[in-house]
Amino acid sequence: MITIRHYEPDDWAGVWSILEPVFRAGETYAYPTDIDEESARTQWIEAPAATFVAVEGATVLGSYYIKANQPGQGEHVCNCGYVVAEHARGRGIAGQLCEHSQRRARELGFRAMQYNLVVATNEGAIRLWQRHGFAEAGRLPGAFRHPRHGFVDALVMYKPLDAGEQS
Ligand SMILES: CC(C)(COP(=O)(O)OP(=O)(O)OC[C@H]1O[C@@H](n2cnc3c(N)ncnc32)[C@H](O)[C@@H]1OP(=O)(O)O)[C@@H](O)C(=O)NCCC(=O)NCCS
Repeated sequence: MITIRHYEPDDWAGVWSILEPVFRAGETYAYPTDIDEESARTQWIEAPAATFVAVEGATVLGSYYIKANQPGQGEHVCNCGYVVAEHARGRGIAGQLCEHSQRRARELGFRAMQYNLVVATNEGAIRLWQRHGFAEAGRLPGAFRHPRHGFVDALVMYKPLDAGEQS
């Protein structure tokens, strides 16, 4: 059974084992491909308002962070990043993380969720976010330098979070 719970420091080795290949590949997130472990920990764990993990027994299979997308007058809109271990993909874990993040976002008082840079070649992720109610708010031509495909478009995706809506 998959459980989603708050990240704890002992989870880091598991989270990093999932993040590292994704960051090194550089195909889906705009982190430096040579990012060191400590910087990755700062960005995924320390900087966000909260980080969660999906676990099966003692094994971390996925993670997401949630943070305000902008300070001040934009702080009611949150941003999340999601990652699932390669061997655990296609089981609906990211979908569960997405729904969980929307509930947490509402509890934290956010009124909307924004994904800033969904790489256009990441078609599975785009379908997934659309299924969970996110609309393409804009398309940024050539905004992502893909290591294999060159400059590709990136989508801004957005979902207002109705306080009364159940997910
Ligand atoms: C994108 C990512 C988070 C998706 O994770 P995931 O856990 O595989 O996603 P899900 O399983 O929820 O959904 C993916 C697919 O599996 C299908 N699926 C869902 N539940 C399923 C189940 N129980 N059994 C089989 N397939 C299932 C979904 O329908 C979806 O199919 P689709 O490709 O036709 O849309 C993962 O591929 C990843 O970490 N990629 C690298 C980082 C990344 O791209 N992050 C997102 C940046 S925007």
